Amino acid sequence: MSNIILIGFMGCGKTTIGIRLSYRLRMPFEDTDKLIENNLGMTISEIFSKEGEAFFREKETELLSFLLEKSIDNTIISVGGGTPIKEINRELIQRLGTVVYLRIQPDTVYERIKNDKSRPLLQEVNPKERINSLLRERNSKYEAAADIIIDVDHMGMDELVAQIEKQCAKIM
Ligand code: S3P
Repeated sequence: MSNIILIGFMGCGKTTIGIRLSYRLRMPFEDTDKLIENNLGMTISEIFSKEGEAFFREKETELLSFLLEKSIDNTIISVGGGTPIKEINRELIQRLGTVVYLRIQPDTVYERIKNDKSRPLLQEVNPKERINSLLRERNSKYEAAADIIIDVDHMGMDELVAQIEKQCAKIM
């Protein structure tokens, strides 16, 4: 399918880049975190605190399966930072379209999200350590799922969007 799927760690810019890309390529934009929040009528933080992380992870898989079943097409889809951890999700994401991994360094993540309270996994005494260990654990999974890898740390928004457009055009 000719969707573009944006994956990567919290704070890598999936949503912002997705919206910019969507304007540029005139493709609709969907964010799976937002779709899950709307379906359940709860924020991500509420889902984690009331239902637990495992429940949220099931919802992510269900939603990806649903998007595939309804043959979503020609859409930019941003998925949660933890979605590609599960093998089944990596398979589903790859079946949905071209997967772009927005790779980010842990220090950049920390600078971007240090005052953000909306990400339950980083509400820790030592968020820096948590970011380091989660990224270490996840990076190879993101890379395994990706068709295209873009390093976001030192690139401006316009350049990033242009790079993604160029790389996608080569393989889509
Ligand atoms: C998560 C990332 C979040 C959200 C949830 C869990 C993760 O999405 O799905 O808080 O496990 O990395 P963003 O990457 O859009 O912040």
